[in-house]
Amino acid sequence: MPKNVSFQQAAASAEGVHYAINFINKVKLKAGQRVLVNGASGSIGSAMVQLLVYYGLEVTATSNSACMDWISSKGIHLVIDYEKEDFTKLEETFDYVFDAVGKSTFGKCKPLLKENGIYISSELGPKAQNPILSLLGLVKSGKKVKFPFPHDIKGSLEMIKRITEEGKFDPLIDKEYALPDISEAYTYVETGQKSGNVILNIT
Ligand SMILES: NC(=O)c1ccc[n+]([C@@H]2O[C@H](COP(=O)([O-])OP(=O)(O)OC[C@H]3O[C@@H](n4cnc5c(N)ncnc54)[C@H](OP(=O)(O)O)[C@@H]3O)[C@@H](O)[C@H]2O)c1
Repeated sequence: MPKNVSFQQAAASAEGVHYAINFINKVKLKAGQRVLVNGASGSIGSAMVQLLVYYGLEVTATSNSACMDWISSKGIHLVIDYEKEDFTKLEETFDYVFDAVGKSTFGKCKPLLKENGIYISSELGPKAQNPILSLLGLVKSGKKVKFPFPHDIKGSLEMIKRITEEGKFDPLIDKEYALPDISEAYTYVETGQKSGNVILNIT
């Protein structure tokens, strides 16, 4: 565990963070690059935007309306309310589009990518197109899809421990439930409308 954090904060700095790290380690991030993150109010997305800011990227992100202020406070260049604005209509380009909630497609995001830009999604996409497009990218030049197969949990935890102890990471926590209410907790998570992480307290 990182020093000086609660058990709740530590638990909320594990799984979503691990998946976020496994998006960003698929590309060679450089400070100053531009990235769009779809779903920054999710567990993966709320970790991802903070890691990208840590590495010096200019981050544009979509969020639910409830988390707009929290996301903005993390040094994000522009936060878009996904229910009010379709990010795929933005008239600007990015080095990366990372869809942390798997709601978009490469086809829809392609106009947002720079010439050699990279698209990554948390989901397989329609007809499992994302892993297939990722393989095609090995033989084609230009805009590409990469597909994240998460690995190295220990490495992710060591990295987030270091960044948390530097005061540069703050997990987004939504509701907390007691163990006897675990069924209610799962029902809430399954709505797909949680913000960040839901905590189960085992006392
Ligand atoms: N979390 C994991 O450990 C994990 C592991 C493997 C795979 N995945 C996959 O990764 C994806 C993200 O998981 P997660 O747990 O990070 O998600 P999550 O926390 O459940 O994400 C929910 C958030 O996404 C927002 N959202 C819903 N629809 C959206 C849209 N169209 N555009 C932008 N934001 C939208 C929701 O806003 P509202 O409140 O307005 O609904 C809510 O804030 C899922 O597809 C999941 O299957 C997750």
